[in-house]
Amino acid sequence: MSNSYKLGDRTVKRLGYGAMQLAGPGVFGPPKDHAAALAVLREAVASGIDHIDTSDFYGPHVTNQIIREALHPYPDDLVIVTKISARRGADGSWIPAFSRQELTQAVHDNLRNLGLDVLEVVNLRSMLNPHHPVEGSLEAPLTVLADLQRQGLVRHIGLSNVTPTQIADGRRICNIVCVQNLYNISHRADDALIDDLAHDGIPYVPYFPLGGFTPLQSTTLSAVAARLDATPMQVALAWLLHRAPNILLIPGTSSVVHLRENLAAADLALPEDALRELEGIAA
Ligand SMILES: NC(=O)c1ccc[n+]([C@@H]2O[C@H](COP(=O)([O-])OP(=O)(O)OC[C@H]3O[C@@H](n4cnc5c(N)ncnc54)[C@H](OP(=O)(O)O)[C@@H]3O)[C@@H](O)[C@H]2O)c1
Repeated sequence: MSNSYKLGDRTVKRLGYGAMQLAGPGVFGPPKDHAAALAVLREAVASGIDHIDTSDFYGPHVTNQIIREALHPYPDDLVIVTKISARRGADGSWIPAFSRQELTQAVHDNLRNLGLDVLEVVNLRSMLNPHHPVEGSLEAPLTVLADLQRQGLVRHIGLSNVTPTQIADGRRICNIVCVQNLYNISHRADDALIDDLAHDGIPYVPYFPLGGFTPLQSTTLSAVAARLDATPMQVALAWLLHRAPNILLIPGTSSVVHLRENLAAADLALPEDALRELEGIAA
């Protein structure tokens, strides 16, 4: 099992880091412990993580500003992936922001807050339904993003919260270098899609790899973890690494202890009997 995979024209380690948990409660406002947020990011990069997932709508602006404060100037091998297509209301609500003006603004906000001249990968996140992929055309916003790519502000484009049809349609508009959808050991709606993307060499980046705001809870996961002298979260991550070679992980945490625990999952081998048992968790 390789521990790295191609992302755009770079190669990244399969275990990366998702920065969403660094903003305040509800991904809104500043973190409760600013110094701790900086420490998590610095520890992540010092530990060899070279792929960080973020968005300027986390906070909003807060998470990107913390990334910049913690890590700028960035190491040459660090790939920061961001996403656009939503903005935040004054009450923290998530509002679709799909117009040309809003998407352009979002790219410039990401550039400014991250302190970059060009964004390595920008995911267009469908907000047709904020909670799960639904069919509908993404042609107009994707065309805008492709224009921004041609202007040199964006190096690569990905899609998030999308259906296989939207990915196929999107690939006719521009090169799609990654797909970021909800997937984890208990939520496996994208099983077929992952295999199709692997066939084409496109990374699949599951969001909520640990279950998201309410982390995974399963007696099977706990039992397997206890037998392997690991934690349930490590088993959940090791299972994803085993699931397909094109899966890139971006588990989110605001804790250095959890970060170290998650990184160690890269070295956790799952024996055949454990894999068989874990198959039963799928919802
Ligand atoms: N494209 C999209 O629509 C979308 C949506 C959501 C998220 N994302 C991206 O995906 C990334 C991952 O998703 P996520 O952060 O929401 O969810 P996640 O990685 O599934 O889980 C994060 C939760 O698990 C906890 N956690 C992490 N490591 C742990 C450990 N070792 N033991 C126990 N608890 C642990 C975290 O709490 P602590 O802080 O206490 O560790 C947090 O509550 C995000 O950071 C973001 O970059 C993308």
